[in-house]
Amino acid sequence: MSDEELLRIEGLCTRFFTENGQVNAVENLDLTIDEGEVMGIVGESGSGKSVTALSLIDLVESPGRITDGRIWFRAPDIADELIESGADDEVTDGDFVDLRKLSEEQRRSLRGSRFSTIFQDPMSSFNPSITVGEQIAEAVEVQRRARANPRSLDAKAQRYGLGDYVLSTVLPSKKYVTGASRDRAVELLELVGIPDPVERADEYPHEYSGGMLQRAMIAQALAGEPEVLVADEPTTALDVTIQAQILDLLSKLQAETGMTILLITHNLGVIARMCDRVGVMYAGEIVERGTLEDVFDHPVHPYTRGLLGSVPDLEGAGGRLQPIPGNVPSLLDHEMPDRCYFADRCPKAMDECLEHPPAFDVEGSEYHTTKCYLATTEYTEEKALPDGYFDEAGRAADVGEEPSETETGIGTGTDSETETETEADSVQSDGGEPR
Ligand SMILES: Nc1ncnc2c1ncn2[C@@H]1O[C@H](COP(=O)(O)OP(=O)(O)OP(=O)(O)O)[C@@H](O)[C@H]1O
Ligand code: SF4
Ligand SMILES: [Mg+2]
Repeated sequence: MSDEELLRIEGLCTRFFTENGQVNAVENLDLTIDEGEVMGIVGESGSGKSVTALSLIDLVESPGRITDGRIWFRAPDIADELIESGADDEVTDGDFVDLRKLSEEQRRSLRGSRFSTIFQDPMSSFNPSITVGEQIAEAVEVQRRARANPRSLDAKAQRYGLGDYVLSTVLPSKKYVTGASRDRAVELLELVGIPDPVERADEYPHEYSGGMLQRAMIAQALAGEPEVLVADEPTTALDVTIQAQILDLLSKLQAETGMTILLITHNLGVIARMCDRVGVMYAGEIVERGTLEDVFDHPVHPYTRGLLGSVPDLEGAGGRLQPIPGNVPSLLDHEMPDRCYFADRCPKAMDECLEHPPAFDVEGSEYHTTKCYLATTEYTEEKALPDGYFDEAGRAADVGEEPSETETGIGTGTDSETETETEADSVQSDGGEPR
């Protein structure tokens, strides 16, 4: 990892405009990712992990769209080109370009060549009626064409000249795919550890085992030699042994190529094994982020503590999250409270938590931040919200003298008889089955 920022996400908001109302899937999200690092995102189901990844690679589909924020990506070649063509400060910032300000065509040209993805289900990435080798070769070909296209942003990185480009536009893709791209596909299959890659290249997806197909999907993702690999639950569908092999493979490829990886997972064991830094997501927000040591050894946010407390064993299958008591909040805009979104499940909810917390720097570490008042405030029983303050739906329930949060914005605390002390700092698991 180079300590040099490659991606800087500022105030990202992604919403879905559904029949039931506006869903705030990603809410004012800030995150930086350094070149060559493995950044993890972890959180319960529905917390916005996948939508964050899709937003980065510009694949959010209707009825969703990014409504606000900046996605700065360090690409000096593109920045120079844009400045030459008269782009202003809204589009470039030094060597960075705001991906959201690029044209549709410019963004498309970055997919595969600068950014690539692997998902949980390899079957959905392959066409069952075309051999695996052919499909990877096509991915190689698409990238070569993108680079060769004199109009594409990747033209400066092209290894193919105008002649190749013209040829590629007049020949049908299958025919053009033969040769160099096919050889490269076999090399990629070999790189990801597929035995007998020449023969296996001619097989169809159904002839591969799950683990082999996952490897092939990684080969396909590497076809364009991407700078950033977004891996969304890349091993969730695999058994523990194959999962370990795939993670080893990703680590090896990352070390060899210097690729930057955004790794999304439910599994804290995978985060502990793979990542340099981690962001914990809850209700569309990054509620805590830091180095592994910050987050695993010095967690501040009770949600992070709850996740860590819910994992009996960080290694292997035991690292998968188990449910924390309480309900994941609805992300419908009209149902989202002004308070901390975790307050109704939090064992340390206090008066101030009825106002939505900003991100606080956590003392003692450069990168450690959390959206929790405990970063700056001591928890005391006097300030604690009384038991039963929230009803099951997470609304402020009628608790006698206590004013509701909608009336006050901030609660008034509790009397000393109210039992607010928790048994432990962490939210306990309900012991349910791993997801
Ligand atoms: N196409 C869509 N239409 C409406 N809402 C959506 C759509 N896709 C995602 N959402 C909403 O966005 C929120 C975040 O979803 P997301 O898929 O990012 O969660 P996740 O953290 O990846 O969960 P999981 O761990 O289950 O994959 C969810 O509340 C979901 O309902
Ligand atoms: S801000 Fe308050 S309610 Fe929210 S997690 Fe922190 S202590 Fe709990
Ligand atoms: Mg997901």
